[in-house]
Amino acid sequence: MATATQIKMLIEAHVSKNDDRFKTIVLQLAAHEAKLGHTSFARELRSILNKDQQSNVKIIQFNKDISELIGTTVGDYRLKELIVADEIKERISRILSEYQMKDKLKKFGLHNRRKILLEGLPGTGKTLSASIIATELGLPLCTIKMDKLMTKYMGETGTKLRAVFDAIKENQAVYFFDEFDAIGTDRNKDNDVGEVRRVLNLYLQFIEQDDSESIIIAATNNPQLLDPALFRRFDDVIHYTLPNDKQIPNLIINRLGQFAPKVSQLNMENIVAISGKLSHAELTKACDDAVKEAIMSDRKTVDSEQLIKMIKEKIR
Ligand SMILES: Nc1ncnc2c1ncn2[C@@H]1O[C@H](COP(=O)(O)OP(=O)(O)OP(=O)(O)O)[C@@H](O)[C@H]1O
Ligand SMILES: [Mg+2]
Repeated sequence: MATATQIKMLIEAHVSKNDDRFKTIVLQLAAHEAKLGHTSFARELRSILNKDQQSNVKIIQFNKDISELIGTTVGDYRLKELIVADEIKERISRILSEYQMKDKLKKFGLHNRRKILLEGLPGTGKTLSASIIATELGLPLCTIKMDKLMTKYMGETGTKLRAVFDAIKENQAVYFFDEFDAIGTDRNKDNDVGEVRRVLNLYLQFIEQDDSESIIIAATNNPQLLDPALFRRFDDVIHYTLPNDKQIPNLIINRLGQFAPKVSQLNMENIVAISGKLSHAELTKACDDAVKEAIMSDRKTVDSEQLIKMIKEKIR
């Protein structure tokens, strides 16, 4: 239970309307309770704070024309749930902190990094990262529907792109151009490379001219399809890879959650050895399958052999 001093500090923070202080004390309280072994109470405290942050995120009501091109959602994954190399995490943290201090930077004529390209294999956390960046910044995630954006007619595509970039300027959010290479591949099918180039160049122009307060994230798993000129327009290009020997156990334990057995009961070395070529998404699915099996057979934790079986299924 909270001590008298902690209760006093909470009331003081509330009376002086110091939200940040209030949240810090609640987090300290949660950490204290977790140490005492009251983990579910600690989690409850943290989730109340998270809810507060989520409810502050305003869903953007775009007009009809724009809402056909952009979907808006509010995410709930946090940065600590993203299992990636330290370098990727540091780069995401830098995007977040520069955004949070953008006014300070502006005073010195500098801009926060806000045009980001995520590239790498499928299922390694690119879409998840975009959603996490939005959540951590308390912004909605606006996903551009690439299939609706790209039409047969260059003029029409241009008009739509202009409308999207107008929306980016008017409504501060994280804008996500997922499967960005779709522009390239779709058009390559018609063997009209010139047309691909024209659409890409148009997009480059818009990205270059954009001086909004929004964050623009593009993702692709085919960076080789992209025009090399495109890379220069981004403030950051982040490369995603398959999980390594260190990340695989973290990912699995995190995903199994309350169904994770004691580490000593999991044949982790074997699991890591067979999981080599699987993506985060595939491992996540294998964990979910193993949890389902545990639930259906009234087990409190996942069985190591069962998990290995599910992982092997994914490899096939
Ligand atoms: N790095 C990661 N850390 C934790 N979970 C992950 C990670 N990557 C993927 N996942 C899990 O897999 C799911 C799918 O991943 P995500 O959609 O982010 O992959 P992606 O890189 O965008 O793939 P694609 O290129 O196919 O769009 C996530 O919702 C999450 O559950
Ligand atoms: Mg994706």
